[in-house]
Amino acid sequence: MDLRYLFGLQRKRKSAEPSIPANRFTILKEPMQTPAEIAALHFASYNVPAQLFAAPGRVNLIGEHTDYSDGFVMPAAIDFSTIVAISHRTDGRILAHSVNFQEHITKTVDELLAARAKSWSDYPAGVLWALREHGVPIDNGFSLTIAGDVPLGAGLSSSASVEVATAFAVLGATSYDMPLKQIALLCQRAENVFVGANVGIMDQFVSCCGAQDHAVMIDCRSLEYTLAPIPPEVRIVICNSMVKHSLAEGDGGYNTRRAEMEAGLRILQSHRPEIKALRDATMADLEKWGSEMSPASLRRCRHVITEDDRVLAAVEAFRASDLTRFGELMAQAMASFRDDFEASCPEIDILIDLANRQPGCFGARLTGGGFGGCTVNLVAADRAAAFVDAMRAGYLSATGIAAEIYTSRASAGAHQIPL
Ligand code: GLA
Repeated sequence: MDLRYLFGLQRKRKSAEPSIPANRFTILKEPMQTPAEIAALHFASYNVPAQLFAAPGRVNLIGEHTDYSDGFVMPAAIDFSTIVAISHRTDGRILAHSVNFQEHITKTVDELLAARAKSWSDYPAGVLWALREHGVPIDNGFSLTIAGDVPLGAGLSSSASVEVATAFAVLGATSYDMPLKQIALLCQRAENVFVGANVGIMDQFVSCCGAQDHAVMIDCRSLEYTLAPIPPEVRIVICNSMVKHSLAEGDGGYNTRRAEMEAGLRILQSHRPEIKALRDATMADLEKWGSEMSPASLRRCRHVITEDDRVLAAVEAFRASDLTRFGELMAQAMASFRDDFEASCPEIDILIDLANRQPGCFGARLTGGGFGGCTVNLVAADRAAAFVDAMRAGYLSATGIAAEIYTSRASAGAHQIPL
């Protein structure tokens, strides 16, 4: 295989959007090869035609760190995605090429699934592992080409998009039927058990079930969901602080917060065993028994319990096109995330402060796991272009960092790309 050829296809800069059309997020997007180019790359590497599957990243409008407490979240899929090209093998090996990392692996299925490599390949490997556990026939092996434009480590669910695209690819290639919710759960299991990040279900779920121009309100206990149209008079602007975060172990962030929250939950359960998750607890419970918790656990639990109420109120506000109310709830959610969940960082606080001073900004908050990443901003359509300029200039002058501000629309969930 001629690797120079593989890597020779340069990323193409997509032309900047002249204006901000209705129902679009305001984003300048990382360019990616077209599906036809990815298919050509696959053919050049493996000498067989591929099937192509795509799965999106997401932005979460409100409902942070509530998913693993059986709570409520309100994300939207975005049109940044991962594309996986797949073809069958007969030699029991997995050959996988990451266009983004410019790396190639060749392993037997057993070697790949035996242990984590602590690299990008853990995400597709974890999904193959979970699919095999489920009984999906993978032992003959596959050739894979993986390319994505979801910014990495930015809190926009690049990991989930790789997982879901891989799952769709393998299920599609093997003609194995699996309901969308089960695919999401299987990808979450891959990340929890194989990769070692104790994430909830939100990212994988919305990557499977997203809908164009809609936010998705997910009940993370029943996995029922409803779609809320994004009001046409508003734009959703995503500002990347360029501070990277990591959900995998060793970062002292996500998994630690989750453990602190679960320690608080156990105290509430010792008094009220019918509390299965923080979703079932109330502020009255916390007032009664919070003093038995560590101060950190008390704050984590307070964030989760109040955040669930905010999501339910936010859905109503969105449905009523009451953007002022939605923005207030975003502000409350951000304060709770910063002060009680303690998962913001100085750069994010600067972005939030800047956003709140811009005309036409209804609300701004950190989106995703925290400790860096992106803010999501709800901005009046006619102010969105000025908002983007002001954010870029203000953040640069305050931090010396050039924020990336992306353009996408609320997009559909994972799918096969017809060739
Ligand atoms: C990450 C996880 C999600 C969720 C968010 C925080 O994105 O993957 O499951 O917990 O953080 O809301």
